[in-house]
Amino acid sequence: MGVRDIQKVGVLGAGIMGHGIAMSFVMEGFPVTLYDVNQGVLDVASHHIEEGLRLFADSGLLDHDRITPSLERLSTTLDLKEAVAESDFVVEAAPEDLTVKQELFERMEALCRPEAILASNTSSLTLKGIGQRVKNKGRLVITHWFNPPHIVPTVEVVKGEETTEETLDTAYDLLVRIKKVPVKIHGELPGFLVNRVQIAMAREILALCDAGIATPEDIDNAIKGSIGFRLASIGPLLTMDLAGLGLWLRVCENLLPEISSSTESPKALKELVDKGYDGIKTGRGFYDYSTDFTKEGLDEAIKRRDREFLGRLKNLYR
Ligand SMILES: NC(=O)c1ccc[n+]([C@@H]2O[C@H](COP(=O)([O-])OP(=O)(O)OC[C@H]3O[C@@H](n4cnc5c(N)ncnc54)[C@H](O)[C@@H]3O)[C@@H](O)[C@H]2O)c1
Repeated sequence: MGVRDIQKVGVLGAGIMGHGIAMSFVMEGFPVTLYDVNQGVLDVASHHIEEGLRLFADSGLLDHDRITPSLERLSTTLDLKEAVAESDFVVEAAPEDLTVKQELFERMEALCRPEAILASNTSSLTLKGIGQRVKNKGRLVITHWFNPPHIVPTVEVVKGEETTEETLDTAYDLLVRIKKVPVKIHGELPGFLVNRVQIAMAREILALCDAGIATPEDIDNAIKGSIGFRLASIGPLLTMDLAGLGLWLRVCENLLPEISSSTESPKALKELVDKGYDGIKTGRGFYDYSTDFTKEGLDEAIKRRDREFLGRLKNLYR
């Protein structure tokens, strides 16, 4: 199946990722049926999609007169068959639980068109595991989006052992068509590409927290205003080319023996988790949110973040 054959999309799971993925498709002209096991979640998802479309329009990334037609392309359901029977491309964004995903994929295959492509948004499971009971494994692929999925451009398109080139290419082309920036990953390396880099950085940052050489706020400011500032515009390998590879080689040789290569749970994180500090959800993490910690405050903080991200999307990608 080629990208031109894709007319309808199904999204399974309407949580943080599923609703944003559904929005990305309806905004670019695809009818989407969004499925969840909880009607309350579907109602909240529809509301968030409407708000998300307005934020896009207010940021100049979507004509205001495209909001209503986009919403009209969205339908929601508690019936899996309704979501997948007529879909040419299905994205699964259910909880990161192997049993739940295995069951969904098995049921999906029985209900879907034989040529439909079945994608998972898993962060850490493999297609071999998720698709264990699927007969035609050639049409399985991972499309790994980043939160907030309707805004962050990159989507990793990961080939499983049995994914066909046609499936990989069609998923890639479809994501280009909805204005995402897909990247093909030719093999199911744990953590794919981006999360491996993110975790490597997290290990060093948490080791620096343990060493107590700077406050959490200063660590955030240092990274945000230096490599973070640069990386939003130019990638890490281009950064090396621009500085000179000889210099990077010398710096690697000097510093690699000095930085953390620990495979233990980071102490800085473990101590906070053991105290019950789970970040914004509990009002305490590296920072203290206890003074402005309300549901409204959290919603407003997410909207502020999205407005800022949309400005960056407009400047750097559109
Ligand atoms: N949150 C992130 O930052 C992020 C980023 C990349 C990938 N992912 C991956 O995306 C997937 C979804 O994560 P999320 O953060 O959106 O989770 P979430 O908990 O916000 O949403 C999951 C949704 O799935 C629904 N659900 C439960 N059982 C289901 C079933 N049997 N069929 C269909 N829906 C069901 C739940 O009601 C919930 O609405 C996971 O695989 C996760 O690893 C998450």
